[in-house]
Amino acid sequence: MQVVKRGLFIVFEGLDRSGKSTQSKMLASYLENELQVPVKSICFPNRESVSGKTLNQYLQNRDMKYPDEAIHLIFAANRWEMRDQILSDLKSGITLICDRYAFSGVAYSAAKGLDFEWCKNPDRGLVKPDLTFFIDANAETIKSRSDYGSERYERVEFQKKVSESYGKFKQEAEADEHWVTVQADGKSIEEMHSEILDKFIKYRESQSEGCDDLDKL
Ligand code: TMP
Ligand code: MG
Repeated sequence: MQVVKRGLFIVFEGLDRSGKSTQSKMLASYLENELQVPVKSICFPNRESVSGKTLNQYLQNRDMKYPDEAIHLIFAANRWEMRDQILSDLKSGITLICDRYAFSGVAYSAAKGLDFEWCKNPDRGLVKPDLTFFIDANAETIKSRSDYGSERYERVEFQKKVSESYGKFKQEAEADEHWVTVQADGKSIEEMHSEILDKFIKYRESQSEGCDDLDKL
């Protein structure tokens, strides 16, 4: 019987308009087309699911009143809805490239003043990413990007707070091989892409001796 090597779970994190969607697409297409790795791209929030429809409404309508704690739990529920699919894709050998995950959940809710540790709890038990690329862009720099301001959280002052809460993960993960901070300021899209690719390939090589177990958050 042929043993299928599981896929890797790769997450991109960062502020709104930081370039993570562009970078995640570039990595996915490189892996698929140049390295012939089976790849699937996913994103959170998944706006198509039951919870995702509520989240979409909330994000697009700044006037919608809803408790911060409750929306935090719905963002987490949105990830739990996908948990089984994620597990089955990884086990069948598909590498997942995921635009935002549980770190967004904590970073954005903590930026509103909710307790950092409380925010982590609803995601505990979800599949832990193998590698998280944090695109570290300056909140002031990205405000001029196209369409900025179209959704609820796209305000410079709030994004600065989100940046501070991502900073806590950055600190916690300093010596952690599963977290990679990529400085965005002053770099071209291509430069960032090659840095990410380089880190990905090194990580994959370092894990070539069996990385079959899936850890949990
Ligand atoms: P998007 O811009 O990547 O589609 O994400 C939508 C917004 O939702 C973005 O401002 C980040 C925010 N968000 C949370 O507040 N909590 C979460 O758990 C996730 C995944 C996103
Ligand atoms: Mg956005």
